Amino acid sequence: MSIPNHILEQLNSQADLVSIIGRHTTLKRAGSEFKGCCPFHGEKSPSFYVNPQKNIYHCFGCSVGGNAISFLRDYENLTFIEAVNELSKQTGIEVPKEEQQNVSYQRSKKTPTVKPAAAVTQAPNKPLNPEQVSADVPSGHMVLDYNDSNYKDSNYKDSNSYENPPPLDAYGYDSVPYMTDDEGSEYQADNNYPPAWLASGMAGLHDSDINHSFDNDNNNNDDNNEDGNLYELLEKIQQFYQHNLSTHPHAKHYFLSRGISDEIFDTFGLGYAPFGWQHLEHQFPQDIEGLKALGLVRRSESGRDYDLLRDRVIFPIRDNQGRTIGFGGRALDDEVKPKYINSSDSPVFHKQHVLYGYYESRQKRANDWLVVEGYMDVIALYQVGIYGAIASMGTAINESQISRLLTLNPTLTLSFDGDSAGQKAAWRTLEVALPVLSDDKEMRFLTLPNNHDPDTFIKSQGADAMREQIVNAMPLSQYIFAYLSERHDLSLVEGKAKLMSQVRALTTALPKGSSFRYLLNNDIYQKLGGKRSQNIEAKDALLDFDGEMTISQQLQLCFVFQPRALIDDPIEAIWQQAGIHELHLPAHLKQKASADVLRPLAWEDLQDEALLDVVSTIKRCLNYLPKDANAAAHFILSNVKPLTQETLSRDWGSFYKALTSRNILSLDGLVEELVSQLIERHMKKKTQDLIKNPDNIKLAIVRKQAQLLNNWLRAQQAEQSAQMATVKS
Ligand code: UTP
Ligand code: MN
Repeated sequence: MSIPNHILEQLNSQADLVSIIGRHTTLKRAGSEFKGCCPFHGEKSPSFYVNPQKNIYHCFGCSVGGNAISFLRDYENLTFIEAVNELSKQTGIEVPKEEQQNVSYQRSKKTPTVKPAAAVTQAPNKPLNPEQVSADVPSGHMVLDYNDSNYKDSNYKDSNSYENPPPLDAYGYDSVPYMTDDEGSEYQADNNYPPAWLASGMAGLHDSDINHSFDNDNNNNDDNNEDGNLYELLEKIQQFYQHNLSTHPHAKHYFLSRGISDEIFDTFGLGYAPFGWQHLEHQFPQDIEGLKALGLVRRSESGRDYDLLRDRVIFPIRDNQGRTIGFGGRALDDEVKPKYINSSDSPVFHKQHVLYGYYESRQKRANDWLVVEGYMDVIALYQVGIYGAIASMGTAINESQISRLLTLNPTLTLSFDGDSAGQKAAWRTLEVALPVLSDDKEMRFLTLPNNHDPDTFIKSQGADAMREQIVNAMPLSQYIFAYLSERHDLSLVEGKAKLMSQVRALTTALPKGSSFRYLLNNDIYQKLGGKRSQNIEAKDALLDFDGEMTISQQLQLCFVFQPRALIDDPIEAIWQQAGIHELHLPAHLKQKASADVLRPLAWEDLQDEALLDVVSTIKRCLNYLPKDANAAAHFILSNVKPLTQETLSRDWGSFYKALTSRNILSLDGLVEELVSQLIERHMKKKTQDLIKNPDNIKLAIVRKQAQLLNNWLRAQQAEQSAQMATVKS
């Protein structure tokens, strides 16, 4: 779907940007511009400007900026198309029809096809515990004259039998399989469910049978065949559900029993979907198409329509502008499975983009995001004034949601239940998040004690304890270690090795050029008892901008930083330490071997012009070099060949900064490692050449040299591992 540029430009220039942004922060006129506190980064003194002439905004604090579309997209989290449609509505500028179609549906004539489920047969609603509930329900609160006996509840203990087996079984059977073990129920009328009319069709019923409609807009408009709008329908359904709370005390009682206070009912628009297989159809008889498009009305195999959400308390799900786009419904009885049912994806509801609680948090200017698992967690946190809790829709939070949250605030805390399912979910989330976790971002993990979720934790420990938990959430590195160390026996070297290899595998998912990858590896290596030497630290720093850089380039930078490393010629030093210089050759080989294979390796042999250039330049001017590393580097850089200069000076600045910011003074260990890698490569190549152009004597000697080098490198590594294993975990 593409929208012509000129239309986008029109939308951006015609949009009332001041009032769009004014919905989220107070803007005051400042000359020809408007000024306010930045809604993106939550500041105290205003540095956010809106220019109504150019219709753009800019923040001097966090340097966000853009136009109306980008604001709606970045702040209200709308998709591009949603932003365009929103502006089209505001400005009256038409965008090609097909872009908008998806939110409309065909309304039908106002002839009801079905009748309220319990209108004839059912007894008046009675809560399970009348005394307790009636005290909690405000009287005279009804917005509309709504005769609740039409929508009678079953004793909610019965709900189990209504959920399971699935509703389609309810149709076309004479005996009703789901009314079983409720002897003694006061609601015998329900035993006749589904009522005869449901099976025989509803011809002959008139609008007057449905005397209370939330479908007010069109009550007097029987022939209204205009397209309906899904957002508007959702709004009406939400109001209907919300209203039901006052007419179904047991539902309200459920929320109250979970500690939800009155103002929260409004803030989150909580509600109740009553019993009755077709309550939505009765309520919105013209909107069946819309109800189906929203997935709230389904069709059974036997061709009957039924409501998805019945006898459930309702959590409206909103988009980032606060429009209702779907519903989550929770059974009132914990035994009922599934505990939660969410309405399905629809043209306006895309679960993978939605974060429950985002809109409400934004209203409170929240900018410390805490990902939780459930609706009730979001609400419980909000209710005690901890704003910024959000939950994904029944599935794990995904990479794009995480990445979005991390742009709003570079620190993101994720809370997971302490049970094993919760911890698995945490681990999966961590894996999903790694690719977007660049060095400037941070993820923290919160696992509450005693298998609490935020909701139950707050109830038992209070809001302050919860705040403390959030502040002390574990940094990612610690979490990874804690998680893995529970799964490996760290008293064994093997356990440590396995853990390390998992960490390595995990960290390869981090973005390219991430220094966090190396820091994490080393941090955990250290925790396992490995010593962090300065050259490892140097390597972290160097690898910060690793990217495409070759070993040779890395080595050149090291020499530029620490030219004195060349005084002890590192190649020769390795040659000696590996014992290659005193290679013991059988006499017959020694005689036949030419001198050039036996002489020590030199920089020239590595056949790397730039490296040779750097090394010889440094050797030439070693005695005149200033002490200061930066000054010396510039001296060297100005004396190497232009081509070398070009590549080196590009990386020098950040390299120097990285090392000095970590107070790294010596690169000896790193130089040694890089040089041995170069030698190793050189020997491999030489061996291959000699195999191609056979010279058996040379080949034998080079192989022997390579073997010595290899042994030496392995011994070095073994020493490191031994060090690691001797320190108790
Ligand atoms: P939990 O099972 O952890 O429940 O589901 P909860 O959030 O603690 O719910 P309460 O406190 O018992 O009411 C966490 C989230 O997973 C989704 C819901 O979004 C729920 O909030 N979920 C759970 C479902 O979608 N379906 C289910 O059957 C259960
Ligand atoms: Mn819970």
